[in-house]
Amino acid sequence: MTASLVILGASGDLTKRLLMPALYRLECAGKLPELTIVGYALETWTETEFIDHIHAALREFIKDFSDEHWLTFKARLHYVSGDLSAAKLIQLAPYCPGDVSFYLALPPGVFALAATGLGGAGLSNEQTGTRNLIIEKPFGTDLASSLELQKVVTQHWKERQILRIDHFLGKETVQNILVFRFANSFVEHMWNNRCIEEVQITVAESLGLEGRYKYYDAAGALRDMLQNHLMQMFTLIAMEPPPVWDAELIRTHKVEVLRSLRPITAENVAQSASRGQYQGYLQEEHIPANSKTETYASLKLYVDNWRWKGVPFYLRSGKHLEQTYSEIAIRFREPPTRLFADMSAHPFADNWLVFRIKPDEAIDWFMNIKQPGLELISHQTSLHSSYNSASQNFLAYDQLLLDALEGDRAHFLRMDEVEWAWRVLEPVLEAWKEGTPQSYRVGSSGPDDLKPEKGWRALSFEQPD
Ligand code: BG6
Repeated sequence: MTASLVILGASGDLTKRLLMPALYRLECAGKLPELTIVGYALETWTETEFIDHIHAALREFIKDFSDEHWLTFKARLHYVSGDLSAAKLIQLAPYCPGDVSFYLALPPGVFALAATGLGGAGLSNEQTGTRNLIIEKPFGTDLASSLELQKVVTQHWKERQILRIDHFLGKETVQNILVFRFANSFVEHMWNNRCIEEVQITVAESLGLEGRYKYYDAAGALRDMLQNHLMQMFTLIAMEPPPVWDAELIRTHKVEVLRSLRPITAENVAQSASRGQYQGYLQEEHIPANSKTETYASLKLYVDNWRWKGVPFYLRSGKHLEQTYSEIAIRFREPPTRLFADMSAHPFADNWLVFRIKPDEAIDWFMNIKQPGLELISHQTSLHSSYNSASQNFLAYDQLLLDALEGDRAHFLRMDEVEWAWRVLEPVLEAWKEGTPQSYRVGSSGPDDLKPEKGWRALSFEQPD
């Protein structure tokens, strides 16, 4: 059966920076199925102009771009110009003979319009093949708006046709959480509150707004990063093992985690969430001088189930921090006794298991072994496993686009995941309508009023000697 990928918003940034390069890398790797790629946007381009635009984008955004596969790729490309009304979208019908995925590479404010327009044009109808709707984050801006968006979208699309993308789920390290947890039987025995003391999930960025002031000032760090990317990593760490690889089961287990969270309430927001704004944010171009938008947010969460009761999960993310550095770090409990000579004299050298996401991708496990010599002295070392996905040339979007084309839904968000992630954060969003974020210095590690018992980990990775 022939397949088509229709990108709505084909003249935009996401298409040129991420989607087209990902598709081209898949082309070069021989991974693309028989596929027609149709760009759709307002620009009244000819097909040749669109193709030239994509060619220039690939040259700009793919390191070591070569024309070797360009002719094959170019032959897949088509362009249709129009707005999001059903009357115009119907022009896409001739390009949709078999299975079709519609990718909304559009501003979130027009997701509903696009979904309705496609539906109105009869393009969600599955008579001649499957029809999928791929939607970028954010899905709504709070609980009520996400439910409203869902209501509108599902007037024409069934839930199983909707693939909500969170690009962190395509990252190598994030996918590795599942393999590490469920392909090693020893892990399960220590994956609980008897062995684990705390979990820290960090996505720190040294970059600022990158020209996205309008979107970012309306969103802030909690909506931009924590509600989706960090919550997703958190649920993968905390979920129960699924008995088989089944998208519905995996997503159901992730939702269970969100449903087991100890509620954040109006009374305990201050102990559960913190926000900051970097100094100079209010002087940024296009940012209102009285903006209360947080550029840093952190959360302390407890999963009140048998596995995790009492273990704090700390999540933090911010802009203009000291380093661009992302990791998930799990601290194991200290042994009940300190047997060795140095142990009572020094702070315990913690056993961390670190899933490193950026800048390097690796898993490191810090452990104490005997220091060579005549005395029984412990010494910290790490088991290091590196798997640089960049060396494979594939990035998060490559994986997710391929999954979408193959119909694998495991790494896409189901509506109840989105809904519960908003539900959990509602009291925080509500409380943050009042007051102002604390200010923090550009290049610092952000505010630390909410921090783990032994403090936050450094925003860089230090290998033990
Ligand atoms: C996006 C956020 O979803 O993720 C950005 O909107 C953020 O603000 C980005 O910079 C981080 O993604 P990555 O893959 O560059 O770590």
